[in-house]
Amino acid sequence: MARLSLALSSLLALLPIVTAQAGPWEQCGGQGWTGPTTCVSGWVCTSQNQWYSQCLQGSATTTTTTTRTTTTTGPTPTGTGLHARAVSKGKKYFGSETETDVLNDAPYVAILRTEFGQITAGNSMKWDATEPQRGSFQFSRGDTIVNFAKSNGQLVRGHTCVWHSQVPRWVTEGNFNNATLQEIIRSHTTAVVVPTILIGLALTTRIICIQDSWDVVNEPFNGDGTLRQSLFYNTIGRSYIDVALRAARAADPSTKLYINDYNIDGLSSKSTGMVNLIKDLKARGVPVDGVGIQAHLIVGAVPSTFRQNLEQFAALGVEVAITELDIRMPLPATTAKLDQQRKDYQAVAAACRAVPACVGITTWDFTDKYSWVPGVFPGQGAALPWDGNLVKKPAYTGIVDAFS
Ligand code: XIL
Repeated sequence: MARLSLALSSLLALLPIVTAQAGPWEQCGGQGWTGPTTCVSGWVCTSQNQWYSQCLQGSATTTTTTTRTTTTTGPTPTGTGLHARAVSKGKKYFGSETETDVLNDAPYVAILRTEFGQITAGNSMKWDATEPQRGSFQFSRGDTIVNFAKSNGQLVRGHTCVWHSQVPRWVTEGNFNNATLQEIIRSHTTAVVVPTILIGLALTTRIICIQDSWDVVNEPFNGDGTLRQSLFYNTIGRSYIDVALRAARAADPSTKLYINDYNIDGLSSKSTGMVNLIKDLKARGVPVDGVGIQAHLIVGAVPSTFRQNLEQFAALGVEVAITELDIRMPLPATTAKLDQQRKDYQAVAAACRAVPACVGITTWDFTDKYSWVPGVFPGQGAALPWDGNLVKKPAYTGIVDAFS
């Protein structure tokens, strides 16, 4: 506890001192708050409770002061729709990825608020966003996502601490030796895991928004299940994973620590690599709580061993989450492809439902309007349950059926 307090106080010193007006969804008041108490034009500073006021749209009562109340529990997640259905079948959440630049799309936000109970930031919590210069941390974008989730009672998944991609050049081109790179991983992980939680929890309490889990290590494997020769692996060896996990546990003992990867959806060499890594970490007492299955899938090609694979991870004593689900197809979409996609979404959701250790599903955004797929897989798309006009596709029905 003493160590944690020390870490928290030194990290508090890193938080930016804000003097301008608060932006959309940002904090604008609350007990102990020293930042701006008014919002940018069109947004109203609204008290959520004594610890937290936030810039919201609309005509809410403006308040910059707080009074102590006896509230000891936070809001129940307000997500209905897919989230409510998943929760009714014993899951913790049904969530979506999102990003700050789409939170001004009102019809989009209306769906994000009501259908989903968990949020992952697509880019705002990655290393290049949070520590663009060594020791200089930028939390504003990540905090915007956390604050949005908090205002809706949604859980947050941190994504991601240590990954070979979207790493700033000062890391990749620094020519750091083993010991220094370990220290860089430690300090980065400690900084990003804690302050977002501090912001999310209004600095002092855990009542508002639970930073449920973190993808501490992302995509550590090659296709054959051996460890990827990333900068981190090449400099430190496999223990870079230990370093990140231990730092994350020390930074926040209550958040669930995940290793997340793609193409570990069915039984495969890569999935076996994950099984062996989790076994090894547990045998050596390195903290790890979950396996994240990204599940960037292809219509008509959901592995038949999807459920069996969830079960093999669950048997290791960790929880499992489907973290980045989308199921793409060659464009254009046709009635037949959309119907196959419905079956595929249903199969994935049904597998998660059937395996108690599968805590939830997150789609990588929820609408084809903002999907990453067409930009990365040329000629493919239509991968999400809502189309580009925010209209539900058959895939939506597939998920509903799985949770009925
Ligand atoms: C993607 C984002 O959605 C894109 O906006 C960005 O350009 C690249 O990264 N696996 C992951 C995610 O773990 O972080 C990736 O997100 C998608 C693949």
